[in-house]
Amino acid sequence: MPDPVVPGSGAGRARRSAQWFGVPGRSGFLHRSWVRAEGFTPEVFDGRPVIGIANSFSELTPCNSHLGRLAEAVKRGVWQSGGFPLEFPAMSLGESLMRPSAMLYRNLMAMEVEETLRANPLDGVVLLSGCDKTTPGMLLGAASVDLPAILVTGGPMLRGRWRGEDMGSGTDVWRLTEEQRAGRFTTEDLIEAETCMNRSNGHCMTMGTASTMACMSEALGMSPTGSASIPAPDAGRLRVAQRAGQRIVEMVVAGGPRPSEILTRTAFENAIRTNAAIGGSTNAVIHLTAIAGRVGVPLELEDFDRLAADVPLLVDLMPSGRFLMEDFHDAGGLPVVLAELVRAGMVDGTARTVDGATIGSQVEGSRSWRPEVVRSVDAPVQDAGSGTAVLRGNLCPDGAVLKISAATPGLLSHRGRAVVFDSIEEYLETIEHDDVDISAHDVLVLRNAGPRGYPGMPEVGNLPLPARLLREGVTDMVRISDARMSGTGYGTVVLHVAPEAAAGGPLALVRTGDVVRLDAAARSLQLEVSDEELAERRAAWVAPQPPATRGWTRLYFDHVLQADKGCDLDFLVGASGDAVPRENH
Ligand code: FES
Repeated sequence: MPDPVVPGSGAGRARRSAQWFGVPGRSGFLHRSWVRAEGFTPEVFDGRPVIGIANSFSELTPCNSHLGRLAEAVKRGVWQSGGFPLEFPAMSLGESLMRPSAMLYRNLMAMEVEETLRANPLDGVVLLSGCDKTTPGMLLGAASVDLPAILVTGGPMLRGRWRGEDMGSGTDVWRLTEEQRAGRFTTEDLIEAETCMNRSNGHCMTMGTASTMACMSEALGMSPTGSASIPAPDAGRLRVAQRAGQRIVEMVVAGGPRPSEILTRTAFENAIRTNAAIGGSTNAVIHLTAIAGRVGVPLELEDFDRLAADVPLLVDLMPSGRFLMEDFHDAGGLPVVLAELVRAGMVDGTARTVDGATIGSQVEGSRSWRPEVVRSVDAPVQDAGSGTAVLRGNLCPDGAVLKISAATPGLLSHRGRAVVFDSIEEYLETIEHDDVDISAHDVLVLRNAGPRGYPGMPEVGNLPLPARLLREGVTDMVRISDARMSGTGYGTVVLHVAPEAAAGGPLALVRTGDVVRLDAAARSLQLEVSDEELAERRAAWVAPQPPATRGWTRLYFDHVLQADKGCDLDFLVGASGDAVPRENH
């Protein structure tokens, strides 16, 4: 049957995809012919926008295992609006299974997304993510290519339920396993609980890193307004995905907005303030810093402290509070928080979003349907100052962070004896012995768990407490490390110490018996050891060997930036754009 469509004859002749499908001769023949083998009719080559759907589905990433349904919904929307959808797999990072840490691979995923977008005949992309690192991985890659892009997350799981009570993923893992170690729960109790905690598709349903980054993407303007909190099994999420498919076609036809037009300094300031209002994960500090680096927006560690200083905590969600993402959604979700912050002058409502409107107009009129879950600025869950504190001092010259809302108020000013561990394995083995020389007043110090040291900066900073102290009723201690903490974790935990020990930071020089002074109000973390003594210890310090001689781990070790710079690779900072590469002749 003759082909009724002249390839590349439509209005989209100038699009990237036209340089594959709209060219005459052998090149166009070759590009179209192989795509036709997938069974598409020839109209797909008439110059319409070609939309990539980057799908981080994997059965090794349980939080993303349902993204296939979302991809189908996106395709519906793309077809409806006259686009041509092409789905492709993106590297998937499962927080619960990957070793040594999913964070080791965030930049690899970002590279893969970036290069796949640039190397293929795509005019725009819908990014499907869910689990912790998949959202920033997608945003990093898309920001560096700067094609029109919308990020749709897979949504949080339904609330966990066990023995008549809510359970929060992550948060209750820490709590229940500590209860078992304290002798208050049996192994059988725990096995029963593990079947009840994660009841549906979706990512962790506390305000952990996945929920935080979904909210950050929405606050930045990169995700549809109101989408972050929709539970994964809710049909509303499929509707959001379908709308995203329609909207990305409109964006391509209109020539934008592109990520660089959305991810402005204003957008990042909005996101930082929003993170304080939702009690979001400390991991947002690292991911937002890295994303800002891709679009050339200067972001300092202190910005997270300074910008959040007058923002109260509005959301009462675990791990800091009582409720779960399903409750947050019932209450109206992030638009309620954003509307409150716009009203209070804390979020700039003029910032652009992928919805095609300003964030202020998108959230206007939003109100909390459950005031016990999402509060107003006038009656917050906690007053301003409960967000992320950025500490400085001779123990962390390039900074460290402490989540105030997750800490014990009485420990925020603390002076104690350091008890130092060189590895998490050494620590975990030690704390099970009842004769271990650790008191509740001591300061637990873990090192070699940073970006280079582990490698991949795992979420081990909220060290479990020694078994004997747990049985004595101790619930918190000051803990300091160059590691990260799960967004679902809690405690008086100083994280992201920079430079890390493996990079020669002062953390490498601490010895058991030294005195450490934490003063959160003064934003200070000091090691009470003289400069002369530290210089002597430094002279004797031996840098660690790389953890691998080849492959990704070696590349990562050689090029990863420290936590205060977002843990990007030094050669990935910045953008390279969407210029079509030379032809594969
Ligand atoms: Fe995937 Fe928590 S393990 S979001």
